[in-house]
Amino acid sequence: MAAALNIGRVRYTRSMGGAGQHDGPGWLQSLSGARIIAGTPAGASDITHDSRRVRAGSIFVAIPGATADGNSFISAAMAAGARSIIVQTDRRASWAPLLPGDAAFVAVPDVRVALAEAAAAICGQPARALGVVGVTGTDGKTTTTHLIAHVLSTTGRRAGYLSSVEFSDGLSIELNASHMTTLEAPDVQRELRRIVDAGAAYAVVEASSIGLELHRVDQCDFDVAVFTNLTPDHLDFHGDMESYRASKAKLFSMLADSPDKGLPKTAVLNADDPASAVMRAAARTVAAMTYGLHDADVSAQGIAPDAEGTRFTARMRGQDVGARTRLLGDYNVANCLAAVAVAVSQGARFDAAVAALDSFPGVPGRMEAIDEGQPYRVIVDIASTEPAMRNVLRALRPSTTGKLIVVFGAAGERDVGRRSGIARAVADSADFAVIANEDPRSEDADAIIDEIARALIAGGFTERRDFIREPDRRTALRRAFKRATAGDTVLLAGKGTEQSIVIGTTHHPWDERRVARELLRGISVV
Ligand SMILES: Nc1ncnc2c1ncn2[C@@H]1O[C@H](COP(=O)(O)OP(=O)(O)OP(=O)(O)O)[C@@H](O)[C@H]1O
Ligand SMILES: [Mg+2]
Repeated sequence: MAAALNIGRVRYTRSMGGAGQHDGPGWLQSLSGARIIAGTPAGASDITHDSRRVRAGSIFVAIPGATADGNSFISAAMAAGARSIIVQTDRRASWAPLLPGDAAFVAVPDVRVALAEAAAAICGQPARALGVVGVTGTDGKTTTTHLIAHVLSTTGRRAGYLSSVEFSDGLSIELNASHMTTLEAPDVQRELRRIVDAGAAYAVVEASSIGLELHRVDQCDFDVAVFTNLTPDHLDFHGDMESYRASKAKLFSMLADSPDKGLPKTAVLNADDPASAVMRAAARTVAAMTYGLHDADVSAQGIAPDAEGTRFTARMRGQDVGARTRLLGDYNVANCLAAVAVAVSQGARFDAAVAALDSFPGVPGRMEAIDEGQPYRVIVDIASTEPAMRNVLRALRPSTTGKLIVVFGAAGERDVGRRSGIARAVADSADFAVIANEDPRSEDADAIIDEIARALIAGGFTERRDFIREPDRRTALRRAFKRATAGDTVLLAGKGTEQSIVIGTTHHPWDERRVARELLRGISVV
């Protein structure tokens, strides 16, 4: 095989029916660099890295993770009926003592790569039967993912999607209750399969940098990659900006390496973000299309918020088309332009793509208005970073005649830099704040709240006059509503559609939109 071919193409050609590396089941043939250590691997319809999800005949993949080592669950997986175990060659010391076991053992150079390869094989390589769009960036991934699927579907290319909020196969929608932006590879591949089986033409995949780094979206064979923006975030995981940027850029090198399915491969880049140059370089020779609020292939003029949302004129190569969206904020105009660019790159007419924006209903838990007839406005939004909070407050200010009240907190075991950042944004742009629990996890909840309070005070807020602390989130919402009067906006930030609050390791059921509705009904009756 010609060495000049890139790895993605070699692997694709081979598993499309070329000579297999091994005799044996399809999943085994799909693995790069695999070596059978013991036993005879059998066909399988199921693969997991979680021993609790092993069923009779499953493949179990032992991942040496950050908190737990999958190798210590191999015995449990075999006891639960796993027929094949995939282990990492360099972790021999952990798995060799278990040999010979009750299962076949296969060693690979990287178990996460193998997890995605085998999962794609078991699901029948769904990405090869779809146009696949990947969306990455610090903020706006979910909104842009939903927008792209909507614009593609409305212009005649039915699309499903996988986002941190929902999974859609193009026909029906399920809530993503996993607390994960990007699922593990077996779940990603299973969702792609569902999209193929539902007869959709495209899948749009929200790809977090952690998901990219951990090979969760390997084997997605991307045809389009979209970059929203890059601001400091998740530096606890990535270390520094450069490696964070590099993990986003991985989506674009995957795009360059993916097989050609006869669709116009395109890198869709935000002209207003300098990190786009890094994404452009990673995409190598793939065609690029830019979008942005200023100078770009697809741009916007005359952005004007109104009572129903935002109006603007979308412009592409000298063609101007009037656009309307119920979304608020300039950043959402950018998200709209990204979706238009994707649809146009796949053959949609520009005016049809722009017209499709009008019928986009919005994203659950993203700037979602909760209206129970109360005299003030209540908005639920996921904003949990400083730039996101600044953007949301900026978008809400013009339509708020009274006070801007924010209920917010910060998650434990996540980028600690977020805490003071988000508090600074609130102190700069809001009128009153209630600090509440978000997901403290194993951290001391009061210590997180103290940290936020200190940052609010440093930003010019005074406790009791400008903010209060109320760890219990239900009480926090109630106290915020009690303060609000006609013309005010109460922003409930940080949870969106998440279905729990994690305290310690316990997931306490929580649905911010439902709780807000319940409280507002109760309050308006009183
Ligand atoms: N293009 C954008 N630029 C900056 N902020 C944005 C942009 N789009 C959305 N936001 C704000 O960022 C927050 C998250 O939006 P969204 O859920 O779409 O992003 P995300 O990247 O999926 O986030 P997460 O990493 O939590 O999954 C919201 O508060 C939203 O208002
Ligand atoms: Mg998201």
